[in-house]
Amino acid sequence: MSYIEIHGNKPLDGSIKLHGAKNSVLPILAATLLVKGECVIKNAPHLSDVGVCIEILNHLGADCTFIDGTLIVNTKNVTRTDIPKELTAKMRSSIVFLGALAASQGRAQVSLPGGCRIGERPIDMHLCALSALGYEIKVSESYVKCLRQNARANAVTLSFPSVGATENVILASVLLKGRTTICNAAREPEIKDLADFLVSAGAIIHGAGSSVITIDGVNSLHSTEHKVISDRILASTLMSAVAITGGDVLLREIDLPSVRPVLGVFKRMGAELVSGNKTLRVKFKTRPRGVELIKTNVYPGFPTDSQAPVMAALCIAKGTSVIVENIFENRMMHAKELLRFGADIVSDNKTALVYGKPELHGADAYCTDLRGGAAVVIAGLGAKGVSRIYNINHIDRGYEKLENQLAALGADIRRIENEKENQPKTE
Ligand code: UD1
Repeated sequence: MSYIEIHGNKPLDGSIKLHGAKNSVLPILAATLLVKGECVIKNAPHLSDVGVCIEILNHLGADCTFIDGTLIVNTKNVTRTDIPKELTAKMRSSIVFLGALAASQGRAQVSLPGGCRIGERPIDMHLCALSALGYEIKVSESYVKCLRQNARANAVTLSFPSVGATENVILASVLLKGRTTICNAAREPEIKDLADFLVSAGAIIHGAGSSVITIDGVNSLHSTEHKVISDRILASTLMSAVAITGGDVLLREIDLPSVRPVLGVFKRMGAELVSGNKTLRVKFKTRPRGVELIKTNVYPGFPTDSQAPVMAALCIAKGTSVIVENIFENRMMHAKELLRFGADIVSDNKTALVYGKPELHGADAYCTDLRGGAAVVIAGLGAKGVSRIYNINHIDRGYEKLENQLAALGADIRRIENEKENQPKTE
């Protein structure tokens, strides 16, 4: 099993270009099904989740070519309408293919999804919203079927601004005659990016990024080219890494509006932040300060995806921090892993009290999920001594070779491939 080895306690210094956003590129790849032609997707990150999407598209009959961060997808030969369990089990967000596939092919059968174990993660809102558009939904124990036959534009109100459900409704409605309105839509920047992609292909969408989105159906979409926005969660992960090690890092190609929800927290931690033209300079001269209260919330609240990396940095803060997770019911699993580094955290499934300690020590730790994995890497960067991080396949889902990005900033970190020795027993 591969693992990441870190010799910690080295300040980060230098400049780094952020890669494209995982949470944008996945629904955009699903959206290519609606375009019977070629889509050129620039700034596509090399992530294992992107690899799964390519496998899904290939399975359906699409041609995909990935060269130097540009993904070219041609969906003109798509004929299949099913996504098998081997593929959906690898990635929960494969549910976003349901609306796109049913809309483009008339029917879709998607096996029930997998992904991070950060809670129950039901899909009831997706199904309810597609039903409101007249799609016929049949759910069995292992798959969900969706038929377009009687679908029509409609007003859809989400009971919660779910990111994935908002994306599914957009994808399912762009080709439906008439006006669809989504009320209580998610406002995350990745929704706007998906809409920008679809509009560049000829869709008519207004209000993406706000709580009310209108979609005026068109007959077809045409070939297009789109650049994916940069990853705001990668930005906050790297900022957390600078917070724990100290240092001075310039983040390039940053989408500044999308990171605004985390800037206040980093300022309270003591960061010196200087923004420029698509850049953000992050400096930590001393140990971070504890933050009285961080509550995750939907955009523009503090993102749940940044909670774990920031918690890792707060383990060495001067003072106590309180973190409340409001989006997922089981997204504190990393707190237990952070204890291995000598952190002092009292947590349940929703709340963590982080008592800052002057230093952490190296440890063997496990990635519990994607962002929890980033958190233990960050703890290793800030710890004195050697750390080994296992189950790193979680990290590869959402970060493009995270260890290389950190090494380029001066961290002593490397991936050890397929080593059987030194591997502690899994729990
Ligand atoms: C997306 C992001 C994920 C991020 C999350 C919240 C992608 C690929 N993933 O996930 O990184 O953490 O937004 O910003 O974009 N829920 C239901 N029923 C549903 C759908 C959701 O109860 O049908 C619940 C979920 O269990 C969760 C909450 O709603 O508690 C938020 O989920 P949602 O916004 O849908 O997140 P995802 O789209 O899964």
